[in-house]
Amino acid sequence: MSHLLILFSLSLCIPSITAQLTPSPTYTPPTASAGLASSTATPNTQWSNILGNSLYFYDAQRSGRLNEGAYGNRVEWRNDSALQDGEDYGLDLTGGFYDAGDYIKATFPLTFTLFALAWGALTHGEGYDQAQQTAYLDGTLRWGYDWLIKAHPSDDVLFVQVGSGDVDNAYWGGDENIPTPRPAYPVNSSSPGTDAWSSAAAAFALGSMLYTPSISYNLTSSSSPPTSPSLENSTYSSLLLSHARSLYDVANSTSPKSTYYESLGEEVSAYASSNWQDDYVLSALSLAIATNQSDYYLDAYNGYVSYALSGLKEVWNWDSAIPAIYVMFSEVAITRPGLAPEVGLDTNLTGWRNETEAYFDSILDGNFKRSYLTKGGLLYFDGDSDEASLNPAMAIAMLMFRYAPIASSQEKTDQYNAFAHGQLEYMLGNNPMNAVYLVGSHPNSPQNPHSAPASGGTDILHIRNSPPTEAHVLYGAMVGGPLDNDRFWDWRDDWVQTEIALDYNAMIPTLAAMQLVNQTSDPYYVQVQAGTYSIPSGQPCDAALPCGGGLSKGAKAGIAIGVIFGVLFILAGIFYWKRKQIARWWRKGYRR
Ligand SMILES: *[C@@H]1O[C@H](CO)[C@@H](O)[C@H](O)[C@H]1NC(C)=O
Ligand SMILES: *[C@@H]1O[C@H](CO)[C@@H](O)[C@H](O)[C@H]1NC(C)=O
Ligand SMILES: *[C@@H]1O[C@H](CO)[C@@H](O)[C@H](O)[C@H]1NC(C)=O
Ligand SMILES: *[C@@H]1O[C@H](CO)[C@@H](O)[C@H](O)[C@H]1NC(C)=O
Ligand SMILES: *[C@@H]1O[C@H](CO)[C@@H](O)[C@H](O)[C@H]1NC(C)=O
Ligand SMILES: *[C@@H]1O[C@H](CO)[C@@H](O)[C@H](O)[C@H]1NC(C)=O
Ligand SMILES: *[C@@H]1O[C@H](CO)[C@@H](O)[C@H](O)[C@H]1NC(C)=O
Ligand SMILES: *[C@@H]1O[C@H](CO)[C@@H](O)[C@H](O)[C@H]1NC(C)=O
Ligand SMILES: *[C@@H]1O[C@H](CO)[C@@H](O)[C@H](O)[C@H]1NC(C)=O
Repeated sequence: MSHLLILFSLSLCIPSITAQLTPSPTYTPPTASAGLASSTATPNTQWSNILGNSLYFYDAQRSGRLNEGAYGNRVEWRNDSALQDGEDYGLDLTGGFYDAGDYIKATFPLTFTLFALAWGALTHGEGYDQAQQTAYLDGTLRWGYDWLIKAHPSDDVLFVQVGSGDVDNAYWGGDENIPTPRPAYPVNSSSPGTDAWSSAAAAFALGSMLYTPSISYNLTSSSSPPTSPSLENSTYSSLLLSHARSLYDVANSTSPKSTYYESLGEEVSAYASSNWQDDYVLSALSLAIATNQSDYYLDAYNGYVSYALSGLKEVWNWDSAIPAIYVMFSEVAITRPGLAPEVGLDTNLTGWRNETEAYFDSILDGNFKRSYLTKGGLLYFDGDSDEASLNPAMAIAMLMFRYAPIASSQEKTDQYNAFAHGQLEYMLGNNPMNAVYLVGSHPNSPQNPHSAPASGGTDILHIRNSPPTEAHVLYGAMVGGPLDNDRFWDWRDDWVQTEIALDYNAMIPTLAAMQLVNQTSDPYYVQVQAGTYSIPSGQPCDAALPCGGGLSKGAKAGIAIGVIFGVLFILAGIFYWKRKQIARWWRKGYRR
């Protein structure tokens, strides 16, 4: 029991963290029909709305006491919830965000999300300022980081999940009756989670930079200040950095290293990451940038070499950091050129550009075995895109946009920009369905996101039609997306296509901020005619709604083999029955 007391007393030492920026003016999402109006304003109203809505989505995912933030609760249909979280460990683990359309709180996809938001804001903070969304960015980040601080009550302890997946999957309803108990799951030195520790360290490190606007991170000579001066808060910045360092130290010194899933098992299988090496290297690199300390850079470089991370063709998502690592190494070579020369390991822009461009070019050239473009033009990764197709495509678009200005030639710059634009436009309506995959942005946006609180439904057996109309508009949420045939069924029970999640949305604010900084004209959806989306006929046939009565792959293979043998048997019969005719026909053909 003594460790519980230690944890509890540590939690009392955490400073009360409430000060935040106050939004001025306040922002409320406009109704979807506003998406039909072309904007000639600077900044572009439509891109400002995409940015504003995509952050509003994170407000709708909040758990805990909703008035604790600086600007209170913007989402009038949400209530305080899960106020006992952490009690099983004598801790306050209230707050944070629900991960998706349900009610578990999962640390791993949260840290991926915070990392992506912070990294984007570090270089494109000006977009948030233009759209007057910096206060909401601050609100979203703090709601995440403040919870992550609670979830990291001592050096080696990090809570990786709150709420049981099994219990949660059996519940479909509002936020007032969320089933309890909601157990908390920690990793610690006896049950290590190298991936979870590292990913949290990476998110904390970039967060600490964001709250230190005087820190330099200039990718190009014309860079604007990296982030909004209004975010400056050295107290908060140091607090985030101290958590980054301590998590990294534990990740680096604990052996054997292990994923949190290997340590904790099925209870945390919702986000079972497949390895820790990529997360470890990303965290070392993030700390190298945040601290300008060469020992972190050395760890990153040595890890990259010894774990053989070169030339890998992985997606960027909560489970894989690979392409983000390539881009970040290139950025370090530009922004921290003096790092670690004393060991002959000077940052090497030529080498890192080669690594990054080999990766991007394999996507552009179609040499990336697992990826291709759908007929409608969406970048699709077999496997990774099957249960949420838009997320990996938006992640690559974000990486290409940020890398394009520092590419090795103008030609590559143009290619990466063009490809990224194509992906973004697909998501925003330039697709065979005329669907705009952001909820509430346009009349053709999805009407039925798979979200228990937004749906207003309580009948888990009739999620699709009960109630017939979704109770609340979940503004700013990007849904899972279409299948590889570009078709999209807007069905609430089809979680493959219509679920929403923290990590799905992680790139959208940055993509919008990039367009604002660039003063781009309207997003594609402005030219999409209302009413041109309709639900396709037939069945989707995906993991949520499998066809053929929900047969497993094994059963399907069995049937296929049976059919092949059956056909062979029939052919053999025909052959025997007609053997004389066939022999005559054969001889004739042979003679000719
Ligand atoms: C800076 O952040 C700390 C920690 O969240 C907070 O207590 C403090 O009030 C903030 N200062 C300002 C000026 O916002
Ligand atoms: C929030 O509480 C109100 C009042 O009880 C209820 O009508 C509403 O459905 C709740 N919201 C959710 C998301 O459950
Ligand atoms: C360490 O983690 C394991 C697995 O989650 C847990 O059972 C145990 O209680 C934890 N130990 C401490 C001291 O928190
Ligand atoms: C980075 O850009 C800022 C703003 O343009 C400038 O003040 C600063 O000197 C630059 N730093 C470096 C290292 O180039
Ligand atoms: C990480 O661990 C290695 C091996 O123990 C050590 O050499 C290195 O200094 C550590 N890195 C940091 C930043 O402490
Ligand atoms: C460029 O990268 C590729 C793939 O990572 C690698 O095989 C090749 O050796 C690299 N070439 C140079 C000149 O660095
Ligand atoms: C990082 O450290 C190097 C070596 O001490 C120094 O030359 C460089 O100016 C530092 N860069 C930043 C951004 O602090
Ligand atoms: C620079 O990168 C290239 C290509 O990856 C590599 O061949 C070379 O050894 C690197 N140089 C240093 C000093 O790391
Ligand atoms: C910014 O503008 C340039 C020039 O028009 C374009 O090529 C590039 O794709 C734009 N960048 C982004 C992030 O949209």
